[in-house]
Amino acid sequence: MLTVFEKLKHIAQEIDKAIKNEDLGYSENQNATGDEQLKLDVASDAIIEHTLSDVSLVKQIISEEKEEIMPINPDGKYTICYDPLDGSSIVDVNFSVGSIFGIYEGDNLTGRGLRAAAYVVYGPRLELVVATRGHRPRHLRSGTRGLFSTRSIVQLKEKGKLNAPGGTQKYWSPTHKAFIDSLFAEGYRLRYSGGMVPDLHQILLKGGGLFSYPGASDRPKGKLRMLFEALPFALIFEAAGGEAIDEQGRRLLDLEPEHIHDTTPCFFGSRYEIAKMREAYGL
Ligand code: AHG
Ligand code: MN
Ligand code: MN
Repeated sequence: MLTVFEKLKHIAQEIDKAIKNEDLGYSENQNATGDEQLKLDVASDAIIEHTLSDVSLVKQIISEEKEEIMPINPDGKYTICYDPLDGSSIVDVNFSVGSIFGIYEGDNLTGRGLRAAAYVVYGPRLELVVATRGHRPRHLRSGTRGLFSTRSIVQLKEKGKLNAPGGTQKYWSPTHKAFIDSLFAEGYRLRYSGGMVPDLHQILLKGGGLFSYPGASDRPKGKLRMLFEALPFALIFEAAGGEAIDEQGRRLLDLEPEHIHDTTPCFFGSRYEIAKMREAYGL
């Protein structure tokens, strides 16, 4: 796993350079989910593919930006599923964006098969959070000469103060709206940038809160993809002492996608907010 994490540091440096220097415009293509692809989505995907394609531990890679699974080494131990650039819609306004990685055992592409997860934050500083199942996540920051050093061990408190509610409010269910309103009524403060990486990173480093992306009438299965987005963050939240569930109250880490690009409604939080969610949803 350490070899993979070392490769992620290299990937982070390369994508960071691309974001800082390359064209931020659209390409002429769409990805498997029908999103317009940025030139940077394609460039970031190419950097990851290139870097991971000579790692013998890697059996195959699956990208949000690719329709199909890409085989690497048939004897490899892991499948790496990744979102090369999360936050494509906010890159043009110079907000923080990220990359997300899920490292699955063999070709077991389920929540239970997920062994480790990581994400990169391309912000004013370059940061990386890595977690192996059952161990507290580590937060690293890049410093002089591009070397990463550990800043902290990520641990959530019982309860936070931040509320990051995703999706379009006019399509929310009355239950979801009442739940989100109840948190604001309790004193929670709105923190939502439109990028799950910086939004979840803020909750993790500030010690708690809730990030939600529910199923709604315009998107009954939510927006966030299981393999590349929801499951990796579920592992990181659980490893940090929090919880990650869907709107039926199931642990995201118990889910099994039918197709590689499947999405799921999701709620990530410290224990208190998730308990409140279960109560509000009658679960
Ligand atoms: P991507 O850029 O990889 O398509 O994903 C963006 C995701 C996620 O980062 C964010 O939380 C969510 O889309 C925001 O969606 P809304 O604009 O619907 O709030
Ligand atoms: Mn994404
Ligand atoms: Mn993306």
